[in-house]
Amino acid sequence: MYGPPLQSIAVNTDSLGQFRDVGWLHFGFDPNLLKWVDHALPHARETVAAPENAEWLRCGGTWFVGVNLLPNDSRGRIENSDSICGEVVSFLEQNYSSVGFDLDQAQISVCYPGYPKPSASESDSAYRYRQNRDAAHIDGLLATGTNRRRYLKEPHAYVLGIPMTDFCADAAPPVIWESSHRIARTRFREFFSDIPPEKWSEVDLTDIYQALRIEVFEQCPRKRLQLKRGESFLVHRLTLHGISPWAETATAGPDGRMICYFRPKFRNLQDWLCAP
Ligand SMILES: [Fe+2]
Repeated sequence: MYGPPLQSIAVNTDSLGQFRDVGWLHFGFDPNLLKWVDHALPHARETVAAPENAEWLRCGGTWFVGVNLLPNDSRGRIENSDSICGEVVSFLEQNYSSVGFDLDQAQISVCYPGYPKPSASESDSAYRYRQNRDAAHIDGLLATGTNRRRYLKEPHAYVLGIPMTDFCADAAPPVIWESSHRIARTRFREFFSDIPPEKWSEVDLTDIYQALRIEVFEQCPRKRLQLKRGESFLVHRLTLHGISPWAETATAGPDGRMICYFRPKFRNLQDWLCAP
């Protein structure tokens, strides 16, 4: 399952401390990562354009959601490409030993000018939340049934983002609420304290999830991420995050604002609350 060891790259010893503190990390330009992006981009384009994937286009045609569609292997390789590389890989291997760098197929998230537009598949209140609160969410807490109650269905270990295109700062950038993972971890630890992990996915956590988001909006600074090709960023699995609306003056190329996200899952559910 794990590939050959990668060349060891020094990780800034402050990185883990910063990640624990603010719930996200930015990794600077790496020419080898840009090489991976250049190789992966035509595959991502082909995937986005494929008629069988048209159902992933949401928000009135302004957001291609593209979950788990990039045809990569567990090291991020596509056909004969190199593995994903760089300081972020070393960081993940060192700090997430139970998952390490065993990747899922990446989400290809593409926003286009006008994001977000209303659509029949989204309620008025959900649309307003998307416009006014960046559709802020924690990954993996999926809404089910007609009453949209939330359950922990996908215990992601982390969210690794890799910008695939260049886009201006107002072109629907990712948004995070700094240090929100600490509030979320505290609240979920309290909530799950008397419930065995094998039952966690069956417990309705809608109310506590809504309450902790309000707490985050009141206490945590909202930060819009500025990103360039060849860079990467890591978001803590419990960090509240979303997508800022596309500003009227914002521009991007014909591929839109494209970011690939890797979100491998923990095998041991307890890691969702206990791992770094
Ligand atoms: Fe997300």
